[in-house]
Amino acid sequence: MNVKETIESRKSIRKYKDKQISEEIITELLDAARKAPSAKNVQSHKYFVVKDKETRDKLRKYEVFRQDYVYDAPLIIICCADPTQYPESVDVDANPNNYAHIDLSIATSFLVLRATELGLGSVFVAWIYRDKIKKILNIPEHYIIPFVIPIGYPAEEPKQKSRKDLGEIVF
Ligand SMILES: Cc1cc2nc3c(=O)[nH]c(=O)nc-3n(C[C@H](O)[C@H](O)[C@H](O)COP(=O)(O)O)c2cc1C
Repeated sequence: MNVKETIESRKSIRKYKDKQISEEIITELLDAARKAPSAKNVQSHKYFVVKDKETRDKLRKYEVFRQDYVYDAPLIIICCADPTQYPESVDVDANPNNYAHIDLSIATSFLVLRATELGLGSVFVAWIYRDKIKKILNIPEHYIIPFVIPIGYPAEEPKQKSRKDLGEIVF
């Protein structure tokens, strides 16, 4: 699959086969995120990889996700970033929180595309209780957790969602 094909075949997948994802593949996914560009090359992103039953059950017990399907994914990547890592900038609109969000979004897009290329299904999930997740997983308070990404081998084939025409997204 080339990049264009990967981009075109990606869609949000919310049902997963009961099949584990190998350590080798998990490393591939994280490595794709690692190679993404970031503001001033700060690389503020950090991931909590949930793949064991114990952690999953704990997250379920405390109802950290607002949609049940997330708990059922064989792999849940908690996507975090540390806004304090950015140096003082001369940019007028510099806001370390924005940079952390931007960089994490780019890096996880790389991760999701690599997952697609490897035949995995995934979805960005922002409908989560961030404070509970931080507490349960001991993630420092100052980190941001904009979303999590459940990943697994697809057990559904949803239709591609429609997109605006090019003319609508270009000024
Ligand atoms: C930042 C972000 C947050 C999202 N949050 C959720 C979510 O909480 N729950 C969910 O089921 N899908 C969530 N989605 C998935 C979107 O609904 C989905 O990407 C969109 O409808 C387009 O569909 P597609 O990914 O299949 O192309 C989110 C997507 C993004 C990019």
